[in-house]
Amino acid sequence: MALLGVNIDHVATVRQARRTIEPDPVWAAVLAELGGADGITLHLREDRRHIQDRDLRVMKETVQVRMNLEMAASQEMTDIALQVKPAKVTLVPEKREEVTTEGGLDVMANRDRVKTCVDQLMSAGIEVSLFIDPTEKQIESSHKLEVQAVELHTGQYADAETMEIQALELSKLTESGGIASDLNMQLHMGHGLTYRNVQPVAAIPAVEELNIGHSIIARAVMVGMERAVREMKNLIG
Ligand code: PXP
Repeated sequence: MALLGVNIDHVATVRQARRTIEPDPVWAAVLAELGGADGITLHLREDRRHIQDRDLRVMKETVQVRMNLEMAASQEMTDIALQVKPAKVTLVPEKREEVTTEGGLDVMANRDRVKTCVDQLMSAGIEVSLFIDPTEKQIESSHKLEVQAVELHTGQYADAETMEIQALELSKLTESGGIASDLNMQLHMGHGLTYRNVQPVAAIPAVEELNIGHSIIARAVMVGMERAVREMKNLIG
């Protein structure tokens, strides 16, 4: 069974909407861990739109499961990772104007920049995963950098508008997953996975980890709403 990494960025998105102290993504991480999360994933973006540097430090000291830091392949982020020392770093492409990570990292086009980060992180004993589109070329380029893992971008599968396109995207993930595992790389997948579309991806042979964020946080808001309102009514009443 694949491990579940819960991405708690969007708890911080709600907090940053008011620049206040709640909800605290560290509290959410602890509850996710109690719920069975195998890992906590968080993305420190260069514009700090959700997760803040403080979250990273407090999270590292608090959660007991493995912490997976998603970040851009930059020296600023690498320096932070070397200080905080998460169990794993996932390198992702990052554009300020995007709403969320839009595509996989182009490992070939950014080889030197990515390699500089990978080498520093791996020498410090941090596992490295590259978030890439499910293509043979990207997997082979990742393999050449000797990273331990690749995370295949499931966004095209998740956004497919017809069942035929979805089946095609699923077969790309399955085929690319096979290539990565034949090269002895750990196989992770994520982005856009929901309660409705996760099962075929979880069933792909060799998938070791799924990273899921938005859908879980969205569900948490809903399943917790009734109780939150009842508690406020009780206080008022
Ligand atoms: N994996 C990576 C590399 C990501 O960048 C993200 C989004 O931050 C996720 C997984 C989780 O995606 P979602 O929030 O759509 O579940």
